[in-house]
Amino acid sequence: MLRNKLILSELIKRWSLEATNRGELVIGGCNSIDLGNIYGTPLHVVNEARLRTTAYSFLETIKSRYPGKISVHYAFKCNPVPGIIKVIKGEGIKAEVMSEYELMLALKLGYSGNDIIVNGPCKTDRLITACLENNIRFINVDSLFELEKIEHICTELNKSAEVLLRINPDFVPSGMNKGSAAGSRTGSPFGMDLKGGEVNRALEKVKSLKRISFRGFHFHIGSGIHNTDDYRKALSLLKNIINDAENAGLNVDVLDIGGGLGVSDSREMTTLELLLYQAFDLLHSGRLSNKKISFAHFADSVTQGVLSIFHNKKIPELILEPGRCITGPNQLLLLKIHQVKDRKGLKKWLVADAGIGTLTMPTYYEHHEVVLCNDINRKASEKVTITGPGCFSADVVYRNKVMPEVAAGEMVAILDSGAYFTSWESSFGFPRPAIVSVIDGRHILLRERESFVHMTSLDTL
Ligand SMILES: Cc1ncc(COP(=O)(O)O)c(C=O)c1O
Repeated sequence: MLRNKLILSELIKRWSLEATNRGELVIGGCNSIDLGNIYGTPLHVVNEARLRTTAYSFLETIKSRYPGKISVHYAFKCNPVPGIIKVIKGEGIKAEVMSEYELMLALKLGYSGNDIIVNGPCKTDRLITACLENNIRFINVDSLFELEKIEHICTELNKSAEVLLRINPDFVPSGMNKGSAAGSRTGSPFGMDLKGGEVNRALEKVKSLKRISFRGFHFHIGSGIHNTDDYRKALSLLKNIINDAENAGLNVDVLDIGGGLGVSDSREMTTLELLLYQAFDLLHSGRLSNKKISFAHFADSVTQGVLSIFHNKKIPELILEPGRCITGPNQLLLLKIHQVKDRKGLKKWLVADAGIGTLTMPTYYEHHEVVLCNDINRKASEKVTITGPGCFSADVVYRNKVMPEVAAGEMVAILDSGAYFTSWESSFGFPRPAIVSVIDGRHILLRERESFVHMTSLDTL
């Protein structure tokens, strides 16, 4: 387990963090306690240099291992903060968006339509219109209904569209929950049901449409995948449909395998862990495996998967839509403990200034390491429930988390908070926090803390 006397070296190794002589957590050369005091807590802290390196190495690794053309598009939904996207864009990664807002953000940040792919199960008429007006590269079509809708809007605007068909392959990556994995036909509504024949019907349909050109297939099988071989296995399920498309006279020029690659030091709770935790407060230690997720293994698994289904055929352009594996490990969230309540022999609560009601939604279903910022060497000694500030008892960060003894006024950090934390934020009674990026001992504000004026700015008072 972490948080014993080895914690300092573990932190340095796994998260590229450091500590002062007094044991205060340092990120990107900045003392976390100083950051919390300057900007206030809660506070998102982005490790800019590490984010840049991760984005670069993802792109370069896949480029060096896949024998065909590749295009990497960052999934905005994972962490849509403009200052973060700019860093990722700077490394040559394009954009994947799923709403009118995200599309406008991508255009505002300087992406051309040709650098953008549009996804999502709820494409409004306005979103489709904006895609056509801005010459978006591909619309990934979620259903037969949507295919007809796009054709209709194209006709009205006298435009045409290039599309990929989103397939639901009914594949659940190892360790994931069947009830929610994006590639499960019972667990998610996304995409067209391969086993039920919807994809074949879509191929027939697309041939009859005048304004839509079919360019290939897309899937996204889940988020937080730890076993890279799952990509090879999921790809193997597309063999027949690729033959069917070609037999129908449709070339599969492009294969978009979505996102989903996990991060080494945080993971989704398994079905059993989630049940035990939500039903009986039994929080699994979330022990980290020593096996690191490797971009090279991921790229090899994908390459093998594609080559096996395109045997003796022209290799397609490969599109990837990573989110979590780029931003997840490169951010932490600082929280202050405002009160400690100890009902002796019953339970101890640490009342923090954020919980799942405002900021930490992923801690409901994912394991994250939580460390004491002002003394990372203090030994873990007890189980505590870290609650948020909302006046409802479900507003927790973690129940029964093993922690050192923490006092009111001290600060803790949730690690690996770069994926789906900022996207889930809400202002439940409290302003949304500031976001700061740190590099070489400098800190740069990416987003101001919401003020009370911001919070009421759209209300008629
Ligand atoms: C279609 C699509 N692509 C990419 C992603 C990004 O996934 P991840 O953050 O797990 O890489 C998602 C996430 O839900 C998605 O729905």
